[in-house]
Amino acid sequence: MTNKLNTNDCSEWNIVESKFHIESNAHYETLFSLGNGYIGMRGTFEEGYNGPDGTGIEGNYINGFYDSHVIKYGEVAYGYAKEGQTMLNVTNGKIIKVYLGEEELDLTKGTINEYERVLRLKEGILTRELIWTSPKGKKIKVESKRLVSFKHKNLAAINYSVTALNFEEEVKLVSVIDGNVTNMSTKDDPRVGSSFDGSVLTTEDINIEDSFGFVGQRTKNTKFKVICAMENEIETRNSYEIENNKLDNRVETIYKIQAKKDEKITLNKYISYVTSRDLKEEELIPRAKEVVKRAKIDKFERLLEDQINYLEEYWYKADVHIKGDEQLQQGLRFNMFHLLQSAGRDGKTNIAAKGLTGEGYEGHYFWDTEIYMLPFFLYHHPEISRKLLEYRYSILDKARERAREMAHPTGALFPWRTIAGEECSAYYPAGTAQYHINGDVALAIKRYMDTTEDTEFLLKYGAEMIFETARLWADLGTFIEKKGFCINGVTGPDEYTAIVNNNIYTNLIAKVNLSYANEVATWIKENEPKAYEELAKKIDLKGGELELFKRAADEMYVPCDKERGLYAQDDNFFERGVWDFENTPKEKYPLLLHFHPLVIYRHQVCKQADLVLALFLLGENFTLEEKKKNYDYYEKITTHDSSLSTCIFSIMASEIGYHEKAYDYFMKTARMDLDDHKGNTTHGVHAANMAGTWMSVVNGFGGLRVFGDNISFKPCLPKKWDEYDFKVIHKGRLIHVLINKNGTTYRLLEGEDITIKHYDRHILLKAKGEVKIGIGEN
Ligand code: BGC
Repeated sequence: MTNKLNTNDCSEWNIVESKFHIESNAHYETLFSLGNGYIGMRGTFEEGYNGPDGTGIEGNYINGFYDSHVIKYGEVAYGYAKEGQTMLNVTNGKIIKVYLGEEELDLTKGTINEYERVLRLKEGILTRELIWTSPKGKKIKVESKRLVSFKHKNLAAINYSVTALNFEEEVKLVSVIDGNVTNMSTKDDPRVGSSFDGSVLTTEDINIEDSFGFVGQRTKNTKFKVICAMENEIETRNSYEIENNKLDNRVETIYKIQAKKDEKITLNKYISYVTSRDLKEEELIPRAKEVVKRAKIDKFERLLEDQINYLEEYWYKADVHIKGDEQLQQGLRFNMFHLLQSAGRDGKTNIAAKGLTGEGYEGHYFWDTEIYMLPFFLYHHPEISRKLLEYRYSILDKARERAREMAHPTGALFPWRTIAGEECSAYYPAGTAQYHINGDVALAIKRYMDTTEDTEFLLKYGAEMIFETARLWADLGTFIEKKGFCINGVTGPDEYTAIVNNNIYTNLIAKVNLSYANEVATWIKENEPKAYEELAKKIDLKGGELELFKRAADEMYVPCDKERGLYAQDDNFFERGVWDFENTPKEKYPLLLHFHPLVIYRHQVCKQADLVLALFLLGENFTLEEKKKNYDYYEKITTHDSSLSTCIFSIMASEIGYHEKAYDYFMKTARMDLDDHKGNTTHGVHAANMAGTWMSVVNGFGGLRVFGDNISFKPCLPKKWDEYDFKVIHKGRLIHVLINKNGTTYRLLEGEDITIKHYDRHILLKAKGEVKIGIGEN
C-alpha cells in the first residue's frame, strides 16, 4: 500500500494532514517525527492511540542509546558478529491524556469535526488543531505545539490546550511519563524488528513531587541508564486541583479543572532525556531536573523563538529553492529538515539509516553516512560533517580489534553496521564482506579536507584513520601477475552480488584510500614533521608501508571487458546469466523478499548503483563515453530495490545528458517518504535517499563536482522548472548559484576571490561579486 499525500495539502514549507485516517496514521507518525540529532520522537498523538495493531507505532529514541543481544545463528563460524545492538524505544515522556468527565479523548471514537496537523519546516514544530465530539456529545477543541529543541540537546516541549465548546464540567489533563515501553518485532522482513522479547528497561528511580517527576531506567545488557523527566505548568482561569501519582514504571500529574465553556486551558510540558552514555550516573537526575526547570523559566515561547532562529541559520545555507514545482520543493525541504533532525553532532553518535524516526535497521549506522549524508552537510554545514567523522574516530580502536579478528595483522576494519563500534551484521555476505566501508570513510575524509582544509582535524583524527584503513587494503590485497593489485572475497555496494573477486567499486575506492594515505603522509612530513613523527610512532607506521600503499594504488586492478568497452562489476560478473526481468512480475520486488540470496547472486542483477556510483564519485577516472556506455548497460539490470540507488542514477543521467531520465529518477527520490514509494516509511524515513535528493539537484542538475582543489559546475534547467538556486561552501567561500531560463549566475557571498569552472570555462569570482553566464554561452 502506498500513502500518497493529498496534493491539496501541498505547501512549500509545511507538511499538512487535513484529515485523520487510521490507514495512513503510522505513515504520518514517521513523517511527523521530531528530532534534534539526539532525541527523536515519532509524531504520535499526546493523548495516545487505540487503533488496530500496526496502524500506530509509539516511539521515542535517543541516538546511540541501545541494548545488546546475543545474535543467534543456526550454525556458527569463527569471527561471526557475536552481539547485535538495537536502538531502544525509550521511556515515553510525551503523553498527555484528556478526560471530559469520565470520557477519554480518543480520536478512534466519537466524531472528528475538524482536524489539521502540520509539520512546520521553518519553525521546527509539529502543530495540531482539532475539534472532537465525544460519543456522549461533548465538544472540545484541542490545539497543540510540540518541539524537540535544536538548541538544547536534552530537551523537548509541548504546549497543549483544550477548550470546552458546549459543556461545563470537570476536565482532566493527565501528564505522564511512562516506562512501559518495548521495541517492535517483525518476523518476515530482515530490515525491521529487534531480537528482544518484551521490555529490556528496568525502572530504578522514580519520583514525582509538585510539578516535577521522573522515571529512571536501566538497560538489561549494556547497563546504560536513561532518565526521562518532566516539569508541568498549567495556565487556566478556572479552579483546579492537582494530584500526583507514582505507579509501576510510570508517574503522572493529574490536573482536574472545572472547565468553562470557550475558556482555553493550557498545559506546558517540558521533557528532558539524559543518559549515562554522556554523564556520570550521579549527575543524571540533577541534570534532567536542571534542563526542565530552566526550560520552564524560559517558557515555551522562548524555546520556540530559539527553534526558529536556529532554523533560519540552517535554511540560509542549506535551502535549495525551486520555482515551478511546488510538490518537489516540498519533498526536498522535508528531506533536508529530516536530515538535520537525524544527524548526531556530539562526535559520539552518527546518523542511523532511518534517522530517529523508526526502528528499521535497528538504529544502525552504515556507509550511508559517509557516501550520502555527510556530503550533504559538507557543502553547507561542514562542522556537522566533522562531528560525523569524529564519531568514526571514536570507534577506531574497535575497528582495529575487528581487523585482528578478521586475520589482518595491521590496520582497521570499520563495521558494516553498528551503533557503538562492534560489527553487528548477522549476515556476513551482505554485511562484514562490504569492506568498501573503509574506503567510504577515507573518501569522506578526503572530501572533507578538500572542502575545509581543516588541518587540525587531519592531524588529530583524519590521518590516523587514513593510514589504518590503507593498511587494511595493503594486507587484504595481493599482486597477481598480469592483473595487478587484486582484492578478493568482498561484496561491493550492490547487495545482489556477493563475495566476489575485484568488485570494481571496492577496488577504485581502495585505490583512493591508498594513494591519499601517501599524499597525507607526504604533506604532514613536510608541514608538520613533529606531528608526523608522533603519529608514526603511535601506530608504528613504517616507510616501507607507504611505498606499498603507493604501489598497490598504482597497480590496482580494474576489471574490464575491453572488447565490449564495458567495466565489469567484478571478475566474473559477465559470466552470470542476466536476470529474467521480463518474467518477474511487479509483486516479486524487492527481490530480496521473494528469492533465496543464492538465486539472486547467480544472476546479473543489481539491487543498487555500484559501478554507476563509482562513475559519479570517482568520475575523474572515466571518459564521458565510458560513462554513457556503462550507464546504459547497468541501468538495464538494476532493480533499485535499495533506496540508495535512484538518486545516483539521476545524477549520472544528468551528467551524460539523459535529462528526462534524470528527472524521472529524481521524482522517485524526492518524495520517497512523503508518498511512501517503498511502502515501508512506517518503519522510518530513508535518510540516505533524503540526502540523495539534494545531491540529485546540486550534483545532478547543477553538475557540482569537487575533485581535489577544483570546484566545477555544469548546470542545466529541468524543463518543468522556471528557476532553482542553492549555496555551496568551498574552502571558506560561500557561493550562491542561480539557474534560470536566462542562464547561470554565480555570486560569491562570503570569502576571498576564487576561480571556479563552469563547463569548460574558468571563471574568476571576486569577493562579493557576481558573474552571469547567458544560456548558450557554456
Ligand atoms: C542497502 C545498503 C544500505 C542499507 C541501509 C540496504 O538496503 O542495500 O546499501 O546501507 O540498506 O540503508
